Amino acid sequence: TKILILNGPNLGRLGKRQPEVYGSTTHDQLAERLVAFGQELGVEVEVRQTDHEGELVGWLHEAADLSLPVVLNPAAWTHYSIAVADAVAQRTADLIEVHLSNVHAREEFRRHSVITPYATGVIAGLGIAGYELALRRLAEPPSAP
Ligand code: DQA
Repeated sequence: TKILILNGPNLGRLGKRQPEVYGSTTHDQLAERLVAFGQELGVEVEVRQTDHEGELVGWLHEAADLSLPVVLNPAAWTHYSIAVADAVAQRTADLIEVHLSNVHAREEFRRHSVITPYATGVIAGLGIAGYELALRRLAEPPSAP
């Protein structure tokens, strides 16, 4: 089975974007690393990024229709997109919310997520390792504790 990694707005600029917050790894490098990590786990991993809310909503519908597990970094949409939250609420497989930075140690507005009530779990502040931990969990057999 396949696991989708979906990244929201401005994450295509990783490497150039506030490297002191988000690190120096580019989105291409992130994708390469996570696909390789998936191979180690024996799962197919597909990484996508978009700056367009409707495109992300469409990908979440696709994941719901095909029962694909998802690792989602909704980026800024985390904090206000009811459209993305409503799409996540339709999930038919596990979905783990991931943030590269520790959103609880930054501006107050980053501390609230409209996505979390519909996610299986959340990982924040561990950089790209957070995606790997999420993949490890999603690659486990369903209903593992
Ligand atoms: C982010 C945190 C968000 O607050 C921010 O808008 C992002 C990235 C993270 O990965 O740390 O774009 O989701």
